[in-house]
Amino acid sequence: MSLIELHHVSKRFGPLVVLNDLSLNIEAGQSLVILGASGSGKSVLLKHIVGLLRPDRGEVWFDGTRIDTLSERQLMPLRRRFGFLFQMGALFDSLTVRENVAFPLREHTQKGSEEIGRLVKQKLAMVGLPDAGPKMPGELSGGQRKRVALARAIALGPEVILYDEPTTGLDPIRSDVINELILKLQRELNVTSIVVTHDMQSAFKVADRMVMLHEGKLIIDGPPAAIRNSDDPIVRRFVAGEANEQELASLE
Ligand SMILES: Nc1ncnc2c1ncn2[C@@H]1O[C@H](COP(=O)(O)OP(=O)(O)O)[C@@H](O)[C@H]1O
Ligand SMILES: [Mg+2]
Repeated sequence: MSLIELHHVSKRFGPLVVLNDLSLNIEAGQSLVILGASGSGKSVLLKHIVGLLRPDRGEVWFDGTRIDTLSERQLMPLRRRFGFLFQMGALFDSLTVRENVAFPLREHTQKGSEEIGRLVKQKLAMVGLPDAGPKMPGELSGGQRKRVALARAIALGPEVILYDEPTTGLDPIRSDVINELILKLQRELNVTSIVVTHDMQSAFKVADRMVMLHEGKLIIDGPPAAIRNSDDPIVRRFVAGEANEQELASLE
């Protein structure tokens, strides 16, 4: 079995079909990028992988266990094996950076404060913010806040890191810092990375495999070169960032 498997997953919200009989296997150690237009269901897909949403039909498996039928309580130990950098990357604004990163360690482990302090330092150093511990989130830039959220996401030593649009809202330089961090964590922690993005530069930098979600299905799946050279018009337009006539007309 692969580390993560989605079997014929369908999900709708009322009349809106978001995932339509979608199947996807993700191997341990892979760096998978999920592409797709806004609203195509990328975040919904990620939430199925960690059991935050359940499919209407189909199955979700993680490391040999079917997870879509588990209770919240049964999911807990599995969810700890994931680090999740949410789209909004929300930090607790009333806590220091150090307390933010320590939070999952206090919640989910029995570690003492010395050990926690050591781990927090290590994680902040890993994201390139060794001195940020005493600061408040409000004192940081958007890119720095993302990095603190990433330090928090890796606090428990996850096997899989899910990144939901990690570079959105960042300028190209700060985006590249995040891309480099994704690669570094991939290398140094041997994690499986799943990155949702519509930033093509970021996608090509971090992916060893790319899929694209469109109308509830994966319309392409392959190495970056296959996406770059795809002759599927939907993929080509997405990669080139070009609107079609219908999209242009909708602006008038
Ligand atoms: N909990 C929910 N309830 C109702 N609709 C939802 C919910 N979550 C997502 N959606 C809808 O599903 C579609 C896909 O959402 P999402 O996965 O967030 O898209 P994106 O690809 O931009 O991440 C959107 O139309 C969104 O409004
Ligand atoms: Mg999203």
